[in-house]
Amino acid sequence: MMTVKDAIKNRFSVRAFTDQKVPKDVISNIINLAKCAPSGVNSQPWKVYVLLDEKKELLSKDVINLFDNGQTEENEYLIYPKDRPDWYKERQRAVGYGLYKALGIERDDIAGRLNQIKQNFNFFGAPVGMFITVDRSVGPNGWGHVGHFIQNICLAAIEEGMGTCLQEAWAEFPETVKKHIKHSDDEIVWCGISLGYPDLNHPVNKFRTGRESLEVFTEFL
Ligand SMILES: Cc1cc2nc3c(=O)[nH]c(=O)nc-3n(C[C@H](O)[C@H](O)[C@H](O)COP(=O)(O)O)c2cc1C
Repeated sequence: MMTVKDAIKNRFSVRAFTDQKVPKDVISNIINLAKCAPSGVNSQPWKVYVLLDEKKELLSKDVINLFDNGQTEENEYLIYPKDRPDWYKERQRAVGYGLYKALGIERDDIAGRLNQIKQNFNFFGAPVGMFITVDRSVGPNGWGHVGHFIQNICLAAIEEGMGTCLQEAWAEFPETVKKHIKHSDDEIVWCGISLGYPDLNHPVNKFRTGRESLEVFTEFL
């Protein structure tokens, strides 16, 4: 019997998946569980778009084509802070270092690094691609409410024996994503989610991130 603690502890960003398909009712179960997330005034300012099979492949093809040609699109929100403080840079560097090390990609292997970034747009080989949008009318606290929902998707997936990778990388190509998912002008695409059964033999899935100790970010007053 899986506990909440198990699910939280077992979750990690999965960046390689098996070919095993995910039945639609299992995806619906995950979303139905995730929607129990709290949100201010029960506003539920999220929407979900699920892409399978050809729909998913067509989007990947379009975005990978843009990526390969070095084409960019105007981002709808600031994905990374403009002036990154040192603590942010350090943690970002550590995660990149660990990820590329697990994959055997050397520091100066720019092509190898770009290729790994590109895997985002193939949903890391996952059978299910999702997009989460936030209603434009809500401010930063509303984005936080959608965050609860997103975390619930990740935990509900663990309960089903699956894994996820959240992907703000998709926010780099909002126009092309919109052409495929056709969300309303009232919504902003926050992130994509790769969902499926983790390929636990793949080296990328051996990589785990650390966390700061409680004293670094908690004060008991
Ligand atoms: C909103 C959000 C967006 C993310 N976007 C990406 C992404 O585009 N590509 C990626 O490989 N990982 C992405 N990640 C995963 C983070 O790098 C990861 O959560 C973090 O390094 C901690 O590792 P863990 O999830 O394995 O515990 C994202 C995470 C979050 C919460």
